[in-house]
Amino acid sequence: MQKLLINGKKELSGTISISGSKNATLPILAASILSHQVKLKNIPLVKDISTMLELLKFIGLSTYLDKKKNIIKITNIDKNIKTLAPYNLVKTMRAGVLVLGPLLAKYKKAKISLPGGCAIGTRPVNLHLLALKKLGAKIKIKNGYIIAEAKNGLRGAKVKFPSISVGATENALLAAFYAKGKTILQNCAIEPEVKDLIKFLNKLGGRIKVVGRTILIFGCKKIIKRVIHEVIFDRIELGTYMIAAALVGKRIIVNKIESKVIKNEIDVLKKMGVNLKVKKKSIEVLKSTKIKKVNISTKPYPGFPTDLQAQLMVLMTRADGKSKITESIFENRFMHVPELKRMGANIEIKNKTATINGPSKLNGAEVMATDLRASVSLVLAGLVADNRTVINRIYHLDRGYELLEKKLKNCKARIKRI
Ligand code: UD1
Repeated sequence: MQKLLINGKKELSGTISISGSKNATLPILAASILSHQVKLKNIPLVKDISTMLELLKFIGLSTYLDKKKNIIKITNIDKNIKTLAPYNLVKTMRAGVLVLGPLLAKYKKAKISLPGGCAIGTRPVNLHLLALKKLGAKIKIKNGYIIAEAKNGLRGAKVKFPSISVGATENALLAAFYAKGKTILQNCAIEPEVKDLIKFLNKLGGRIKVVGRTILIFGCKKIIKRVIHEVIFDRIELGTYMIAAALVGKRIIVNKIESKVIKNEIDVLKKMGVNLKVKKKSIEVLKSTKIKKVNISTKPYPGFPTDLQAQLMVLMTRADGKSKITESIFENRFMHVPELKRMGANIEIKNKTATINGPSKLNGAEVMATDLRASVSLVLAGLVADNRTVINRIYHLDRGYELLEKKLKNCKARIKRI
């Protein structure tokens, strides 16, 4: 099994280009089921994307990935379509459940493996199913599969989500694309990735409008046969490298971004004393001499993202005084804490809140991560720690970070995969 070796305490400088967003690409790939020919640009070459492409191929679409140009071309000729997402393809990547909406919308039936729980929580799909039922689908759960049917097609309806879910909003949007009549989705997730999906669906012929947390879908009058779309940048990757720069950077420039999308994250880092020069399409992170304590709570967008919580915690270990993080999205997302403690961090957890007593000096250790963002927080800890850190189970990192070692090495980090 592969490991990452990091020799910490090396000051970093250089430029990092941010990749396309994994979490925007996944629902857009699912949306290609609704289309005929799609060309997607700025695709991140990460494992979750290859898993989704495998799923689309299994369903019967043809896919072509140009690794040099980060482009995917997908064709759906509506022949030999299997309306099935099997367990082996959904279990490693929960976003597989996003093919439920488009299969049901276009082919009127779908059988999708239940994704099950994962390290960060139970992660149910009840909100996805609630929306599809409101749109007229008949749904039953049998042998670990969601079996859904809409014999006469889906109908527009009003759906009010009892709580905010990114995946459920996306599945509902995808399902409502071909529905007859108007659909109103209330209390929706309005993450930039959801907005990128809407941009794509509108290019495809959809008539979708966002007003606050309400999304109005007026159905598709005419499908556009060929669509080209450039996926939005990965704001979590951006935040991760900004935190790396705040920890050990001398001068790091992150580019290929839109800084207005991460206003809240920029505000939090500035409050912590991180030395930032923010431009429209790039951010320069200069040496930050004194990191200040801060209290944050993870929230749906535009709040502070849960996907950046573990990384920010590493920066908090450098701050003077007590910082607090309340994790309000997932019930079990402090799996990185025991590992950070083994490296010398002083962190206490009570219910949903972690208190980070800083500053503490981190020391390299052999560590192991249990999910994607926890893994990358250990990379950040390794960069700032004394001596050598060995990170096990790095397949988690490969699910979501494109060219992680290369990007860090270009900035002079001492990091190696063995
Ligand atoms: C997406 C992101 C993930 C991010 C998360 C929250 C993708 C591929 N993944 O995951 O990186 O951490 O948003 O920003 O985009 N819930 C229910 N019932 C449901 C669905 C969700 O109770 O049917 C709960 C979840 O358990 C969780 C909360 O709602 O507590 C938010 O989850 P959700 O927004 O759905 O996350 P994902 O779409 O799975």
